[in-house]
Amino acid sequence: MQSDSIGIARLFSEIASRYDFLNHLFSLNIDRLWRKALVRSARLRNGARILDACTGTADLAIELGKSCFACEITAVDFSGQMLRLGREKVRKKGLAEKIKFVKADVLDLPFPDCSFDLVCIGFGLRNLMDRQKGCDEMARLLKSGGRLLVLEFSPFQNGYLGVIYRFYLKNLIPILGGILSGSAGAYNYLASSIAGFLKPEEVVLMMKKSGLTEISLKPLTGGIACLYSGVKNPIDRLL
Ligand SMILES: C[S@@+](CC[C@H](N)C(=O)[O-])C[C@H]1O[C@@H](n2cnc3c(N)ncnc32)[C@H](O)[C@@H]1O
Repeated sequence: MQSDSIGIARLFSEIASRYDFLNHLFSLNIDRLWRKALVRSARLRNGARILDACTGTADLAIELGKSCFACEITAVDFSGQMLRLGREKVRKKGLAEKIKFVKADVLDLPFPDCSFDLVCIGFGLRNLMDRQKGCDEMARLLKSGGRLLVLEFSPFQNGYLGVIYRFYLKNLIPILGGILSGSAGAYNYLASSIAGFLKPEEVVLMMKKSGLTEISLKPLTGGIACLYSGVKNPIDRLL
């Protein structure tokens, strides 16, 4: 288990070059559908200011960038290697005007309060050393009426799907991930970070503690992942 932020940043930098390939392979490409589900639920308006926290290699930022007109996306991560690959992908897709990258820690972001209409985090929340602090920080950056969208794996389920999922996560992913990425430790960590993550109702409680309301959650693919949504000061939106 990684015990500090520097260890997590180092781990992602270590697997960065294989990250996209293994992500799509292990999820059988379903991760792409989950990100699209997030973008659909964002109901983006023209000119929106968007933060993609824990952007990694920018898959979510790219999906957002393809779906909005004249929006400004700030993509943040603390792994230099992940950002480098993300920046390259964004340039190749011709989205460099819309998507800007910032190297920063999501627990302490260098932006003023109320800067963004939408804050998203895809498969990043479970990696934060202090998840409540991260959630508070993302809520702080939202404008009144702005929305936080969290896409994250859920811990193991009960039933048949749970048994298969547990076997896949605990046995196949660490072995295959280790062989294909050259870093067995990283894929052991990724599997155990999913197993040890919060239950959906605990994520909802955390979002409430950050002051968000109108919280909803949508299980995806039998509950393997979940999409959460919360709004900051929705009343102000109506005034
Ligand atoms: C599993 S990847 C997710 C990447 C991407 N959002 C996606 O949808 O594939 C998690 C990312 O979060 C980043 N990360 C973890 N903790 C962070 C923190 N405290 N501040 C900034 N980035 C962080 C890692 O460097 C990594 O790139």
